[in-house]
Amino acid sequence: MTPAGSLLVADKLCKAYGPTTALDGAEFSIHPGEVVAVMGPSGSGKSTLLHCLAGIVTPDSGSITYNGQEMATMSDAQRSALRRSEFGFVFQFGQLVPELTCVENVALPLRLNGTKRKEAERAALAWMERLEVDDLGKKRPGEVSGGQGQRVAVARALVTNPRVLFADEPTGALDSLNGERVMELLTEAARSANAAVVLVTHEARVAAYSDREIVVRDGKSRDMERAV
Ligand SMILES: Nc1ncnc2c1ncn2[C@@H]1O[C@H](COP(=O)(O)OP(=O)(O)O)[C@@H](O)[C@H]1O
Ligand SMILES: [Mg+2]
Repeated sequence: MTPAGSLLVADKLCKAYGPTTALDGAEFSIHPGEVVAVMGPSGSGKSTLLHCLAGIVTPDSGSITYNGQEMATMSDAQRSALRRSEFGFVFQFGQLVPELTCVENVALPLRLNGTKRKEAERAALAWMERLEVDDLGKKRPGEVSGGQGQRVAVARALVTNPRVLFADEPTGALDSLNGERVMELLTEAARSANAAVVLVTHEARVAAYSDREIVVRDGKSRDMERAV
């Protein structure tokens, strides 16, 4: 049932936290460059699915393959290398380092990979330009608006040229106007970089930016395209 040419595939994922079943046989797949929205009510298992796909949480059973490689067979070091080099992350809020300027925040993943400061900040500024926040380079996260902060976070997630961008409720803390602008810029930037996007949201308005929707309910998933 694995769709041909998929970059990231999950099959029959189960995950429980004590007595709580978070995932109960969830399926997922995404192609290179595809934008897939993971929809569903609060508590349905969306974030758990994203964390499993990103190799942050280990499922109790089921399989996840990235680029044809089974994640369970990777060492912790291999999984964290994968997260650093192939994946980018945007969360709801609170992900920028408050002590660093915006450009230092965006440059941080490159600095951690050993890129020299000047080169890292040059690359950071190019991404900030695409997200229309290059004028905020010297400001600290506490000095910019929520929408600006999320655009800085998107630039930081894309600066390493990841193959997959994981975004968990990226506009959840924004008003609708700022949320739409963040989604426009996020999807535009991801498409131009040919990064696939796993977009977790419970808002139909946000899911409208995706190519395909998967609905999660009680830890089970349903592909809306195949269902209709
Ligand atoms: N770390 C955790 N410890 C205990 N329960 C958790 C944990 N993470 C998630 N859950 C539970 O698993 C279920 C699914 O949660 P989650 O994946 O966060 O849903 P969603 O992102 O759709 O709101 C919920 O019942 C939640 O309370
Ligand atoms: Mg969640």
